[in-house]
Amino acid sequence: MTTQEMQAAFEEAYGRKAEKIFFSPGRVNLIGEHTDYNGGCVFPCALSFGAWLLIAKNADGVLRFRSMNMEQVYEIKIDAIAPQPNRAWCNYALGCIDIIKRRHPDAELQSGYDLLYYGNVPAGAGLSSSAAMEVVTARAFTEEMAVCDQDSLPFGYPDEKAYRTELALIGQACEHEYAGVMCGIMDQCASAQGKKDHAIYLNCDTLEFEHVPVKLDGIKVVISNTHSPHHLDSGAYNDRVRQCHTAVEQISKVKPIKFLAELSEEDWKEVESAITDPIAKKRARHVVGEVARTAAAVEALKRGEIAYFGELMTASHVSLRDDYEVTGPELDALAEAAWQVDGVLGSRMTGGGFGGCTVSLVKDEAIERFKAFVGSEYEKKTGLKADFYVAEIGDGVMRL
Ligand code: GLA
Repeated sequence: MTTQEMQAAFEEAYGRKAEKIFFSPGRVNLIGEHTDYNGGCVFPCALSFGAWLLIAKNADGVLRFRSMNMEQVYEIKIDAIAPQPNRAWCNYALGCIDIIKRRHPDAELQSGYDLLYYGNVPAGAGLSSSAAMEVVTARAFTEEMAVCDQDSLPFGYPDEKAYRTELALIGQACEHEYAGVMCGIMDQCASAQGKKDHAIYLNCDTLEFEHVPVKLDGIKVVISNTHSPHHLDSGAYNDRVRQCHTAVEQISKVKPIKFLAELSEEDWKEVESAITDPIAKKRARHVVGEVARTAAAVEALKRGEIAYFGELMTASHVSLRDDYEVTGPELDALAEAAWQVDGVLGSRMTGGGFGGCTVSLVKDEAIERFKAFVGSEYEKKTGLKADFYVAEIGDGVMRL
C-alpha cells in the first residue's frame, strides 16, 4: 500500500485530501521479555511495518475514525471523549487524545478531525500493532493540540528524544486506561525511538537508552508467526504483573526493593526463600535471570559474539516457557523446531506471549531450510500454518 493509495482512500471516504500523514512502526523484541514493568532492560527493534494515520480538520466538532483494516466507523463529539464500549478499535486513538489533554492542560483540540488509519503489522501477532497506532496518534495530535510555533517541538520539549519519550508515555497510559492492559513501556518506546538497523537497549525504569547497531554479517533476524492470536487482554498478562508485585512485597521483608530488576543473580540466592508464594517465586526467577541475560546479550552483540547472543535467546525462551509460563504449545512448537535447524543461532518467543511470534537468528544459507523444516514441523504438531518474515529494522515515528 502506497501513501498515494492511502490518500485516494481518504478522499473517497471524506471527499477531500488529508492534510498530514504520519507513520509509526511495530516492533520485535530481541531479548528482555516481561522485564519492562519490572524496572528492567529490554532490547527491541522498530520494524519497517506499522501504522499510518492520515488526518484533516473538519468544521463539525467531531472526530471521525475510519480504518482501512476495520469495518467499524466511529464518530465522537470532541467534548465527549471517553472509552467506547465493546472493545472499539478507536479506543487506542481516542485514549491518546484524552491523555494528551490530561497531561498537558493547555492542549486543546482546535476543531474536529477526519482520520483514516492503515496498518500492516499482522494483527494479534505480538508485534505491537496497538503501540504503533497509539504512538502515531500521539505524534499527530501532540502536534495538532499544542500551542507552539512551526520551528519548536510541542509543549516545549527540549529535544526529539524527550518528545519521543513523551509520545511513548502517552501511548502507554492509553493502553492502561482505554484497553485495560497494564503493559510496560517497551512497545511504545520502540515505536517512538526506533532507528534504522539498530536495536534499542532501553532501561525501562529511567527510560534512558542506547541505539546498538544490528548489522549482522550473513545472518538475518527472522520472525515466525504462529497465527494463533495472542490474547494480551485476556487477563493472563495482568496476572503476571500482579504476581511480580507479590514477589516484590515478599522480598521486601528481607531486602527492600522497588523492582525485581534491582536483584542480581547473587542477590537472588539470598532472597528467594523469602517468597512464600510458589507461582510468584517462578515469575521472579525468570525476571532476575532475564535481566542478566539481556545485559549479557547486548555485550555479546557489541563484541560480535553472535553465537552467544543466540544461546541467550534460546535460554530466554526456556525460562519464559518453564518459569513465566507465557509460551503455550504453538510458540514452543516453533521455537523447538527452530533449535534443530543447522544454521539457527537462537530462537525465542517475542512480545507478551500466549501466541504471536518467535524471533530467530538464522544464517543466510539456512533461511530456506529453516522455513521448510519449521513450517512442516509446526503444521504436524499444531495443524496450523506458520508465516515467516525477514525483519527489516526501521525508524521510529515520523511525519511523512
Ligand atoms: C507486551 C507488553 C510489553 C512487554 C511485553 C513482554 O508486549 O506490551 O510492555 O511487557 O509484552 O516483554
